[in-house]
Amino acid sequence: MEQSNNIFTPTLLTWFAQNARDLPWRHTQDPYAIWLSEIILQQTRIAQGTAYWQRFMQRWPTVNDLAHASEDEVLRAWQGLGYYSRARNLHHAAQQIVQQGTFPNNYADLRRLKGVGDYTAAAIASMAFHQPHAAVDGNFYRVFARYFGLSQPINTPQGKQLFATMAQHYLPPRQASAYNQAIMDFGATVCTPKAPSCSACPLQETCAAFREDRIDRLPVKLRTLKVKQRQMDCFYVHYHGRIALHKRAAGDIWQGLWTVPEADHLSASLRQQATLLKSNVKHVLTHRVIHANFYQLECHERPSLPTDFIWIDEADIDHYAIPRLMEMLLDCLA
Ligand code: ADE
Repeated sequence: MEQSNNIFTPTLLTWFAQNARDLPWRHTQDPYAIWLSEIILQQTRIAQGTAYWQRFMQRWPTVNDLAHASEDEVLRAWQGLGYYSRARNLHHAAQQIVQQGTFPNNYADLRRLKGVGDYTAAAIASMAFHQPHAAVDGNFYRVFARYFGLSQPINTPQGKQLFATMAQHYLPPRQASAYNQAIMDFGATVCTPKAPSCSACPLQETCAAFREDRIDRLPVKLRTLKVKQRQMDCFYVHYHGRIALHKRAAGDIWQGLWTVPEADHLSASLRQQATLLKSNVKHVLTHRVIHANFYQLECHERPSLPTDFIWIDEADIDHYAIPRLMEMLLDCLA
């Protein structure tokens, strides 16, 4: 290890003992409850995630209950959280676990679950089973880059390897759960991405970035390729109190969610009869920016659509899991 420092971990653990956030999944050792919290909290803020976690735990208190739900029910319950592959993988992994007969109880077996990567496997292994694995997330990168003055980019294989090695090196083997969650809370409340609270930081005196006035420049992230732009025309097709929806297939965005017809699904003459509700609606996803136009089409005869479309009662739309962009279209009708 290029840096050795024996106050980092004890200082952090003392800080955590006094400042840990009181979060509901910290009152359980149930690996299912912890797993669920970790999947929900990827890309989701604590306040919003907590409400979803509580709803999921109430509705599906065990992995067996979740495995026996339908994918549609799980996606519907997930609606609003985004990144729906998390929900599909969660449901699939619940079925994997029920088939295996027991909840995996170690890092290697957890890592085999769908949707469980290095971070999540380490988080569950440490929090539910007290195994010594560092759960390296964005908080780790930021805290370590600053405290140890590491300018290696965090989004390259070499950078990731370096940070993982450092995180593991400083892990106290019998307190992995506290260590991992200490970094999460410390990164979320003290060593924040913007305007960190250095004056209140118990590690300030020995922090390399603070000493060298490099807080704003660490961690270093290499710029990645630009996200793709996508144009999308969405048609709210209305026919005798019913609207047309189809369930999106694998290999495209929003797999398993329901959306209205797009330009390709309609004949040119139908497209021409539609009225524009709103143009150039910008919607940002992880790998894409969508520029959408919303249309409404009133039909007196049943329009012909590809065979995977179904006609649902307009009032039943709440029973279908739809992406945020469809909610935005519905808002234009109100
Ligand atoms: N984010 C993800 N997992 C978390 C946890 N266990 N505590 C706080 N924030 C988290």
